[in-house]
Amino acid sequence: MVQLTLPNNSKPKRGKVWNKPEKEGTWRQFHIYRWSPEDDSNPTIDTYFVNTDDCGPMVLDAIIWIKNTIDPTLTFRRSCREGICGSCSMNIDGTNTLACTKGLDEIKGPVKIYPLPHMDVVKDLVPDLNHFYAQHRSIEPWLQTTTPEPQKEWKQSRQDRDKLDGLYECILCACCSTSCPSYWWNSDRYLGPAALLQAYRWVADSRDEATGERLDNLEDPFRLYRCHTIMNCAKACPKGLSPAKAIAELKKKMVERKY
Ligand code: SF4
Ligand code: SF4
Ligand code: FES
Repeated sequence: MVQLTLPNNSKPKRGKVWNKPEKEGTWRQFHIYRWSPEDDSNPTIDTYFVNTDDCGPMVLDAIIWIKNTIDPTLTFRRSCREGICGSCSMNIDGTNTLACTKGLDEIKGPVKIYPLPHMDVVKDLVPDLNHFYAQHRSIEPWLQTTTPEPQKEWKQSRQDRDKLDGLYECILCACCSTSCPSYWWNSDRYLGPAALLQAYRWVADSRDEATGERLDNLEDPFRLYRCHTIMNCAKACPKGLSPAKAIAELKKKMVERKY
């Protein structure tokens, strides 16, 4: 049964105010979710002030500034700083997005930062993505063929290659899956928009020869059919992709193969 209220020990409390703005500089207020498995206490929302004259223009620049100048214990993931690795996804100003591509000038008032919603938290802004990655693995995201391997390469026409546009660009940031209400309530059995977009990426690939098995793998009341076309996924995707459209294509393939 779905639990609609937070357990008492998971309710965030007002946390520490770390620094006061100094006279010099342009100071911006940040409210950031903090929780550590080492403390036996509730999460807190801590307040920091960032001198935006002294850091880059993106939210990630500001939280790196906080880590470097105020609080080295603040924990988050990041790597590429240019929207390619997918590791800095978090909930910023009420929306799941990438901290490295979200401009500070896109946010009015204090900047509120939480981990991706409805995931277990490892620490602070780091969600536990093990289950998410296992779901991705379960759709077997690699080329599968039965015909003998060609001497040079598997060829693909330009038109067939174009069919992968809007699919191959996914960086597995999980912004879509963690904004999908169906995934919130059924992530144990529903694959969610990110894994399903990847599933369709291989079904749509003209070189792949395992379409039947791939569709068999999705033939289940939960794995695919828990998508109710709510469209949050397409709204959340920082790469401008539409997992909802890919899911609709998968459902179409399921119907087509019956006739
Ligand atoms: S369209 Fe489907 S996958 Fe996307 S948010 Fe809605 S229910 Fe989730
Ligand atoms: S579809 Fe978009 S939001 Fe979802 S994991 Fe891929 S890049 Fe991230
Ligand atoms: S740091 Fe790589 S996507 Fe943001």
